[in-house]
Amino acid sequence: MKQQIIRCSHIEKDLAGLLRGLSYDGLFLLTDENTHQHCLPLIQSIPEIQSAKIISIPAGDENKNVESLSKVWKFLSENGANRKSLLINLGGGMLTDLGGFAAATFKRGIRFINIPTTLLGAVDAAVGGKTGINFTGLKNEIGAFAPALAVLIDSNFLQTLDLTNLLSGYAEMLKHALLCGRDAINGVSTRDSLNELLRFDLERIDYRKLNDLLFESVLVKERIVTEDPTEQGIRKALNLGHTFGHAFESLSYELKRPVPHGYAVAWGLVCELFLSVVKFGFTIDELRKVSQFVKENYGVFAFDCTHYQRIYEWMQHDKKNESASINFTLLKAVGEIEINQTANQEEIDETLDFYREYFT
Ligand code: GLY
Repeated sequence: MKQQIIRCSHIEKDLAGLLRGLSYDGLFLLTDENTHQHCLPLIQSIPEIQSAKIISIPAGDENKNVESLSKVWKFLSENGANRKSLLINLGGGMLTDLGGFAAATFKRGIRFINIPTTLLGAVDAAVGGKTGINFTGLKNEIGAFAPALAVLIDSNFLQTLDLTNLLSGYAEMLKHALLCGRDAINGVSTRDSLNELLRFDLERIDYRKLNDLLFESVLVKERIVTEDPTEQGIRKALNLGHTFGHAFESLSYELKRPVPHGYAVAWGLVCELFLSVVKFGFTIDELRKVSQFVKENYGVFAFDCTHYQRIYEWMQHDKKNESASINFTLLKAVGEIEINQTANQEEIDETLDFYREYFT
């Protein structure tokens, strides 16, 4: 099922219009403590929302767990939700992942709408049907593919975000731009997204422009997900930057210096572009431009060669691997994707040497 992606010009009007065109029996709204306070007021004037049953869960990835999920199931059950009910998820990636999974599993599945309130949520988590929770310390260990009925993207929410949160989502936009090149998307020719993103001024944000770039980026993901909803092939392209990225993220938690997901992805992109240079002749000039942008905006995650083995072990445990080898998505050029690539430990160590030399 293809999900509807709605670029909102006015969230209240767009959501009210969407709800009026749907038939459902019972409207439920899931928030966390932050979106309840800061985002709910932006849609509260809609009569349907005023009569919706609202459930709130604690914010933060550490609460993307079976306890919060059970709280949502219980609330739906105790408040008379049935198979024709509709759930609206208002929040960042943690909330849309958990809410989507609650909806996908309640009475074998009810419909849901995502309203992402973070850049990371809008550009990645809320779109594409991956839902789930963390379990036994493993991220997204339990989940299901279940597309939202609609995803409403409103850049007004972005104006409430701090720079760290924006940068976290921006890394996924860089990834999408690296994957799409200068192709036409859905018949509409795109601009040179990568260079536009690399030139974008993150210190004085032009939100109108960010909104254009965001929507273009979402279309890249949508195009890939439509072609391969359950990640049998080309959807693996979306893992670019994530093999090193997830290992850095895990190491950062182990070293008690946690970094946001998107920062780890930004450093992961640099590493995987370096591997792309080594293995596929990706141009050094593009590697240099992206690395410079990442260094200037994301700083550095510092580690030394005593951590290499641990990074390698995290990569071996990545759920993207299908056999004993570590799976990478690499690029021949911007927009020329090579999925299902592998690298040996020596190549991985060489990449980490490059990272440390460049960033420190
Ligand atoms: N975040 C990668 C994907 O949705 O496939």
